Formats: sequence, structure tokens, C-alpha cells
Amino acid sequence: MPAARDLRELLALLEERGQLRRVRAELSPVLEIPEVLRRVMRRRGPALLFERVRGYPGWRVAGNLFGTLERIKLALGAERLEEIGERLTRALAGPPPMGLLEKLRGLREALDLARYAPRQARRAAFEDTVLEGGEASLERIPAFKTWPRDGGRYITFGQVYTVDPATGVTNIGVYRVMVRGPREAVVHWQLHKRGQQAYREAGERAWERLPVAVVVGSDPATMLAGVMPVPYPLDKLLFAGVMAGRGVEVYRLPSGVPVPASAELVIEGYVEPGREAPEGPFGDHWGYYDRPARRFPVLTVERIWLRRGPVYVGTVVGKPPMEDAAIGKAVERIFLPIVRLLLPEVVDMNLPEHGVFQGIGIVSIRKRYPGQAKKVMMALWGLGQMALTKILIVVDHDVDVHDLNQVLWAVAAHVDPQRDVVVVPGTHTDELDPAAPYPGYGSKLGIDATRKLLEENNGRPWPEEVEPDPETARKIDRIWSSLGIDAGG
Ligand SMILES: Cc1cc2nc3c(=O)[nH]c(=O)nc-3n(C[C@H](O)[C@H](O)[C@H](O)COP(=O)(O)O)c2cc1C
Repeated sequence: MPAARDLRELLALLEERGQLRRVRAELSPVLEIPEVLRRVMRRRGPALLFERVRGYPGWRVAGNLFGTLERIKLALGAERLEEIGERLTRALAGPPPMGLLEKLRGLREALDLARYAPRQARRAAFEDTVLEGGEASLERIPAFKTWPRDGGRYITFGQVYTVDPATGVTNIGVYRVMVRGPREAVVHWQLHKRGQQAYREAGERAWERLPVAVVVGSDPATMLAGVMPVPYPLDKLLFAGVMAGRGVEVYRLPSGVPVPASAELVIEGYVEPGREAPEGPFGDHWGYYDRPARRFPVLTVERIWLRRGPVYVGTVVGKPPMEDAAIGKAVERIFLPIVRLLLPEVVDMNLPEHGVFQGIGIVSIRKRYPGQAKKVMMALWGLGQMALTKILIVVDHDVDVHDLNQVLWAVAAHVDPQRDVVVVPGTHTDELDPAAPYPGYGSKLGIDATRKLLEENNGRPWPEEVEPDPETARKIDRIWSSLGIDAGG
């Protein structure tokens, strides 16, 4: 099944599969809808469509669309999410085509990449209503207040579109956006993110304005592309096409920013390098309110575009697991082939939901040489957003990284703390990490839980692992059912 073409197609598909519930009670986007969403996310329940939104006649609100991996796969029309990363790596890795047939196959794969490129749409769904001047007020939008001490109303699942001044590539980032007034908002793109990079580039070029568009509710591939840690400067619209399996239809706004033609809501505006305002507090995905307000760029609204009968999409973050835990898992699966292209010894990885994605990462490797586990740690701490992972645990290839009990066994049985634990002080870290001494600056912990080679073990061979006697095991296999143990004996 192909990826859904817009939000409404996705809602219909989820409803058909019994994965969407409609809520008819009238609820407010201030605390009430977020509280219902929070409870449903905790239970890994269905997507919700709120049909009556207090104070916002004509609007509907959707949430928890991506609360399970199954729904994400359904939305993207992918049986395996790794398939998406493989579409990219296939084009780059593998022996060069030699024979004619192989050359033709290589050509087809190159054409495949072109097939994922964005396509220009003549019309956009959101042209139904265009609000300008005083009409273009953010007060018309059912932005959430998610936690009682949040510093204001937030667009929590908006995709922030920018065109990079240095490269011309489009970025899509899911960054929270705080409503500051009818025509002003604050964009929370963090230090290590591509949105902030575009902003810095604009400042260095002495641009007076960097055009920005905030999109809410589009086809699921572009919504999720905003969360993907795509290496700079790969175009995120192209990556969204790779995720959808076809090019995204885009509409170029008067400001020049391309946005998906299927969007429900587009806020068009600009940020001015140097013009910043306090942002927060906000209850974030670590389960804490952020530190006291820090400054981020002010977005000035020029135009608001709306599809008729608009459907707003919002999410809530907090102590895991919430919707973003499932989205984090999808990122892990999609990027595994790309990590493996760069670090071929990597077998699998697990960014456990309760480890807050950037808190703890577990990686299994096929180890060949001494020190390799630490080499993998150093590589990952330098690789895109994997670099923000605070604690890395490296295990051997035969440990299932998704079985935390197996991982604990490997840590308990294979780690000599003095030899196998590294603490790297004074490093980059996630800006929101509540334990870091300074936002964006902290330290790393690496645990090498692989079996040690001679060189790593003072020249002593690693002990022999207990295994059943094969002949006895075969015999017991044959008579196992007759022992009646499985039947509760
Ligand atoms: C619900 C949700 C909210 C997020 N909010 C922010 C945010 O406020 N700021 C931020 O920098 N990243 C935020 N992220 C993470 C980014 O979307 C993610 O790091 C993404 O890869 C950024 O894209 P970029 O590499 O193009 O900057 C959020 C993710 C989710 C799922």
C-alpha cells in the first residue's frame, strides 16, 4: 500500500483499520485535549480526532497519529521501516556495475532517486483561505497548552520549513513554536539543528530576513521528515520523497519557501537574525520543564493559509512513553542502514523508549580487533544527531539489543569498570538534558560490554561460555514433549 497522500487520507485509513477514535465532546486545546492525548499515548491507544474544539468553531484536532510503529508503517506504506534507509544506501553502496545488465539496473536505481524528488503543484489545498495583515492572527489557531506551567500556547507538531542560505536546500524541522502574540511566535530550533544552522547562515550573510513557514497537517512523510536527523545538507523534501516512495507535491509560497501542497495550515513569515525573545518554560520529553527561559528567534507572521474545515495536528511530550517514543523508534529503524553504511561493524541498535532517545543508546557490533567498541562509541559521538546520545552501551553481535535483560547480562558479565567504562568530560550534549551542567554542554559515558580479546584482557583468554552438551541437547529435544513440562508439569 502506498504512503497516504495527505492528512485526510491518513485519517480515513486509520479509521478503516480501527486505529482512530472520534471524540465528540467539546474540549479546549488549553490543557484538556492535551490531557486526553497524554492518557491515550500512555496506553498506546488509538489516534484521536476531536470534532469539536472549544473556542475554535470549524476546526478539528487530530493527535496520536504516530503513537505506534504499526501506525507509522501504515502511514508510510512501508512493511519494514529499514526499507527507507536502504533506498538511500542501495544507491551508494555495492559493487560498481560492470556488465550491461548491471549497468541498466544501476541506471534504474539512479532514476529511482530522481523519482523521489519534489514536484511542483499548480494548486495547493490550503489556498481555500488566505489571511493577511491583521487577519493573519495566531489566535485563530487551536494551539495547545500542554502542561500547567508552560510559558504559553505552543504549536507542538509544526514542521518548520526554511531554505538554507548557503546551499539552497530545503529543511523541515519539527521544532516547537511558542505563540507570543497575534502575529509573533518564537521558534525553538536547538543549537545542533539544521533550522538554527540556516538562521546562523542568514546572519553571517547579513540577511535582514530569513523566510520561514510553519506547516501543520500534511502527508505523513513530510510530517515525519521533520523529525528525521538527515545529514546536512541533504534536502529534507527529497528525503520525504524517499520516505513516501514518490516525490512530494510542493507549492512555492510568495516568500519562496516550498511547502507540501497537501497542508492543512501554513503560517508564512520570517525571522530576523538577532531578533530573539525568551522561550519557555515548556514541559519537554525528558519529563521536566526546561530551564528558565532562553532566547530564540522571533517569527513574524505575514500570512496564514488554511484548508477548508482545517484539521489541526498537535502532540504532547513528557515522561516517556508518549507519541514521540514511537517516532523515535521509527527514526532508529530508518537510520540503521545509514549508520551501518558508515560503521559496517554495527549489527543493530536500540534507543530505548524510556532512555528518552538521546539519553541511552545500545549498539551491537561484530568485533574483530581490540578497542573496536570504543572506536564505535567515538564514531557515534561524532555522527549527526547520534552525537547527542549521552550514554552508549556496546555489546557483541549475539546480544539482542532489544532485550534489555540480555544487555544487562552483558554489562554485568563483561564489564570491568576500570577498563571498560569511559567518561568523556566537557562534550556537546542535548540542550534539554536536565542533568547537564549547562544547556548543550555536559559529558558522555561509554560502556564497553563486549567480550574482551587477548590484548584487552592482559593477554588472558576470555573464559569459555557455558553451553549444553550438543548430543544431550538433541536427545532432550526428541523427548521434550513427552516430559509434559510445557503442559504445566
Ligand atoms: C514532538 C517533537 C517535538 C520536537 N521539538 C523540538 C524542538 O522544540 N526543538 C528542536 O530542536 N528539536 C525538536 N524535536 C526534534 C527534532 O525534530 C529532530 O531533532 C529533527 O531531526 C530536527 O531536524 P534537523 O536535523 O533538520 O534540525 C522534536 C521532535 C518531536 C518528535
